[in-house]
Amino acid sequence: MIKYVLYLCLFLTPQLFSLPAANSLSVGPLLQDPIGYGESELQFSWKLPQGEQTAWEIRCATKRSLLPGKADLWQSGQRSSSQNLFVNYEGTKLGTGDQLYWIVRYWDGDGNLSDWSEVASVEYGLLYSHDWKGKWIQDPEDRSGEIDPAPHFRKAFESKPKLDRARLHYTAEGIVDFSLNGKRVSDSYFGPGWPDYRKRRIARTVDVTELLKKGENVIGAVLADGWYSGNILFAGRERNGGTPALLCQLELYYKDGSRDVVVSDSSWKVVTGAVQFADFYDGESYDARAALGSWDEVGFDDSGWRAAVARDVDLAIPISSYSGPSVKAVEKIAPLSWKRGDEGTIIFDFGVNLVGVPELKMPMEKGQTVEMRFAEALNPDGTPHYENLRSAKVTDSYTAAEDGVATWSPRFTFHGYRYMELSGIPEGEEPRLDWVKSLVLTSEVASTGEFRSSVEDWNQLQQNIRRSQLGNFLEVPTDCPQRNERLGWTGDIQVFGPTAAFNFQSLAFLEKWCRDLRDGQFPTGKIPDVAPDVMWVRSRPHGTPAWGDAITIVPWDMYQKYGYKKILRDNYQAMIRWVSYYDMETSANGGLWIDYGYNDWLQPFQENTDRPLRGDTSRSLLGTAYYARSAAILADVAEALGYEDDAEQFSKRAESVRERFAKAFFEDGVMLPREDGKETQTAYLLALAFDLLPEADRANAMRELERLVVEEANGHLRTGFVGTALICRTLSRFGRTDLAYTVALQEEYPSWIYSIREGATSIWERWNSYSRSEGFNGAKMNSLNHYAYGAVGQWMYETVAGLSELEPGYKKIKVAPEPGGGVTQAKVSLETPYGLAESSWQLGGGRFDLSVVIPPNTSAVVELPNGETVEVGVGRHTFSRRAGQ
Ligand code: BGC
Repeated sequence: MIKYVLYLCLFLTPQLFSLPAANSLSVGPLLQDPIGYGESELQFSWKLPQGEQTAWEIRCATKRSLLPGKADLWQSGQRSSSQNLFVNYEGTKLGTGDQLYWIVRYWDGDGNLSDWSEVASVEYGLLYSHDWKGKWIQDPEDRSGEIDPAPHFRKAFESKPKLDRARLHYTAEGIVDFSLNGKRVSDSYFGPGWPDYRKRRIARTVDVTELLKKGENVIGAVLADGWYSGNILFAGRERNGGTPALLCQLELYYKDGSRDVVVSDSSWKVVTGAVQFADFYDGESYDARAALGSWDEVGFDDSGWRAAVARDVDLAIPISSYSGPSVKAVEKIAPLSWKRGDEGTIIFDFGVNLVGVPELKMPMEKGQTVEMRFAEALNPDGTPHYENLRSAKVTDSYTAAEDGVATWSPRFTFHGYRYMELSGIPEGEEPRLDWVKSLVLTSEVASTGEFRSSVEDWNQLQQNIRRSQLGNFLEVPTDCPQRNERLGWTGDIQVFGPTAAFNFQSLAFLEKWCRDLRDGQFPTGKIPDVAPDVMWVRSRPHGTPAWGDAITIVPWDMYQKYGYKKILRDNYQAMIRWVSYYDMETSANGGLWIDYGYNDWLQPFQENTDRPLRGDTSRSLLGTAYYARSAAILADVAEALGYEDDAEQFSKRAESVRERFAKAFFEDGVMLPREDGKETQTAYLLALAFDLLPEADRANAMRELERLVVEEANGHLRTGFVGTALICRTLSRFGRTDLAYTVALQEEYPSWIYSIREGATSIWERWNSYSRSEGFNGAKMNSLNHYAYGAVGQWMYETVAGLSELEPGYKKIKVAPEPGGGVTQAKVSLETPYGLAESSWQLGGGRFDLSVVIPPNTSAVVELPNGETVEVGVGRHTFSRRAGQ
């Protein structure tokens, strides 16, 4: 009987089922268990394994062992809310070096409660400049103004028994590789990264607990020029900074609660060694004969070394701790073949245009030097094409200290290449394919999205987009990875952002870069053309439409893709100043943009010869269109942030810029004749994509655009960086997906598939960067690795495969595939912040079949090609309809 009652009780309790625990816990911009976290505010995110959430509870503690029962930092209690992304921390305030462990559980709509999640953590770095107790140190013998051998720094210190944990906090003016007792402290490259050096330093924190031992230890550091004082400007050999320096703080926490701190100061010793030279543009030279042996281990005699010179930390320059992605070697690629080049060189072909460094493993003789040069393509005569690297030497060299197999890979440079030319091989020596591999370097960002279709050329295109994204997501989003540039060009990522956010987890990476943008903003509100701004040493105009608009568009796009409002808050003031800059700059020209800017950069078939590379679109039109676009985004941002007065005021301004635009450049949807530009696809694309024309005029504008695409260009694009990002999406949005397919499936120049047919393995800077028959387009500015034209990815994922966000972060999803162009299948899968979403369709046997996956805690609207609309919830749903209906 008692048993029976017990069973009954169990049956009647509402929390009968224990739901599976939440997973993928992250903080801030979706970082998992970061250490060296640098923001004082904190938000928590988690994913549900299934279903929906109606309430959550979070517990936070200073120690893992205190959870769940003794959470001493925060016990939220049960909170009724469906929110599982970016939930604000409300517990005890945290600061420098603090650790927080946290768990979460949730309730579903039936009142069922989940298990507690696994424990996640976050650990703060040094938040303020005054937390740094050491000094900046440098090699006293550095010959400023030249590129010097990389100094090696060394310091011996004691560690007491019973170490609990050890953290190395470091920053540098330059790039630095630390080691402890002979082992590198991390597998990252180019730490601590690249900030705007005029405004701040950037710091990293590394867990070094495992590398320490009781008693004597040695910390070592090799410091190279990097972005601080290496070559970093396309115009020549201007140096950005001065002599490289480093600042570090090693914190040893013992089990008894005590702590030792080892800091950089003048007690460190320094000398130069095997790295004779290291520079991003020019390459790295390593002379193994000058190697210092076990210099970073205990017992090494450093009595002959110099004392480092030390200087105080300048409290006026912030040192920002950063725990986002760092550069890592993510793949090893073996060459496919080799052949002999001129003068006894050997040319290795890695099969794809990659970004990285070589890894050498070859027999050498004592004193022998081999040189490696890198090229993206071969000339028709088979020689490597080096001209497009411009002044960058892109050459590594290695000299062997002894006979035997030499193993080496550079640490302080990177190259963009497919081919490596090796010289210095004794005559008659038969090369082997396994002498060299390539390590692919990128800021390590998780892959989140995949796209496949029945069009093999598009699948290759998608691979190329991904490859160019990884190659150019290297500390900052760069234009290209090979020539003397490699800069954070604002316009390129402005057009590519949504595609980037689809392919790889880009939030933390681009959030950091937005700070570089803000750091570079001029007092007038101008946004620099590149960020970090290294062009300040030259007189550039900066503040150019479509480029500077990265300050409004990139945060807005990231908010749409990830739902992270903080990126809007952080950039809000900078956006306001940018739009005010437009107000000011246009005030003497009736509120219309004046005639400068990069415009529709690299438009093909340009007729106007006065302004090379900038295309035929009116610069006043393009600039005013972006002015209107940024003004409109600003109003939306104000609204999203709940600033009602601002939102009202800003939308009035956006409306008036729109009206001015429509009146000045169009009549009844047709572009008015102008002296500074002719009718172009891009002119109409801007007017339509940015909603700049009165509703009634849009059909006419669309008709003109169709004419320019179909009649004037035979179904081809005529767009540069700006128009290319818009063309397919805009054609689809205004009902001509069929024409978008025509453009995107073209095989002749100019088109995406043209590059594929000519053997592209990455996205090119120009539509005609290269051809098999003529080799490299001889233009001075020509790279085979520029992601801007890869912006078409967004259309393929959102329209062809049909997956996009209806509400920020994909809280509500739109699945609306639009088949066409003879394509019989397309599939997109995306790891959204809520979990996996998928849309996969095929046409065949007279049927259209669609399979959709909707992640937990979201919902979706499915729009079928026959016009049917269905609301669906979490899980997999399939639809089968007669084709064409
Ligand atoms: C870069 C571009 C950049 C442009 C500005 C070039 O040198 O490589 O990608 O956006 O300058 O027009």
